[in-house]
Amino acid sequence: MGEPKLSRMKDKRWSLDGMTALVTGGTRGIGHAIVEELAEFGASIHVCSRKEEDINRCLEEWKNKGFNVTGSVCDVLHRHQRQTLMETVSSIFQGKLNILVNNAGIDISKQIIDNTADDISTVMATNFESAFHLTQLAHPLLKESGSGNIVFISSITGVKAIPLLSAYSASKGAMNQFTKNVALEWARDNIRANAVAPGPIWTPLLESVMVCFKI
Ligand SMILES: NC(=O)c1ccc[n+]([C@@H]2O[C@H](COP(=O)([O-])OP(=O)(O)OC[C@H]3O[C@@H](n4cnc5c(N)ncnc54)[C@H](OP(=O)(O)O)[C@@H]3O)[C@@H](O)[C@H]2O)c1
Repeated sequence: MGEPKLSRMKDKRWSLDGMTALVTGGTRGIGHAIVEELAEFGASIHVCSRKEEDINRCLEEWKNKGFNVTGSVCDVLHRHQRQTLMETVSSIFQGKLNILVNNAGIDISKQIIDNTADDISTVMATNFESAFHLTQLAHPLLKESGSGNIVFISSITGVKAIPLLSAYSASKGAMNQFTKNVALEWARDNIRANAVAPGPIWTPLLESVMVCFKI
């Protein structure tokens, strides 16, 4: 059974007891690690991804660790699925959400010239538009919580040019700017917005990029 991290710490200032969180793409990689970190600090979390089987496997794993996690299928590419997701979250957390982590993302690694119209719209919709829309949908829940937080999982590629990642990088650059606008507009609602821009982190997504780089 997972022991709450708080109880192992000398400094007891850090607790997420009673807090609620939504982590998109929580079944693998960075999102999975975020779920575990939040849960160890006592938060209740809802996750989504596209594969029910993966969600069920993760929920079983987290239940065995004593974490309070629920999950549902949502392909964040689709607007109506995002709406359903937020309705589910609102129902589970009684209309209050403290933390939204816009993590779900995909990469298409190609030369600029080889990106099709579909590549560009899929990457932008999955990585950027979904985060924009989920943020809009979450606004009443975040406001209602009295202390809302949004974390956008961006990327170093949103600030630095890296070969083969033009569409992906554009989606993250847009996310970085959107974060600033959210922080500005919603400070009055006591909602904070921050973007995290990781460098390479060894996950299935990074492995697919490495294949394209022939590394
Ligand atoms: N790994 C890195 O080096 C790195 C560096 C900087 C930033 N990032 C960013 O960090 C985030 C997570 O990356 P990762 O490396 O952890 O990727 P990952 O290992 O591929 O995991 C991605 C997660 O998102 C879910 N997902 C993907 N597309 C989705 C969709 N359309 N709808 C719902 N869920 C979806 C995946 O589940 P399903 O596929 O089952 O849906 C999975 O749970 C991404 O935004 C990525 O851009 C990663």
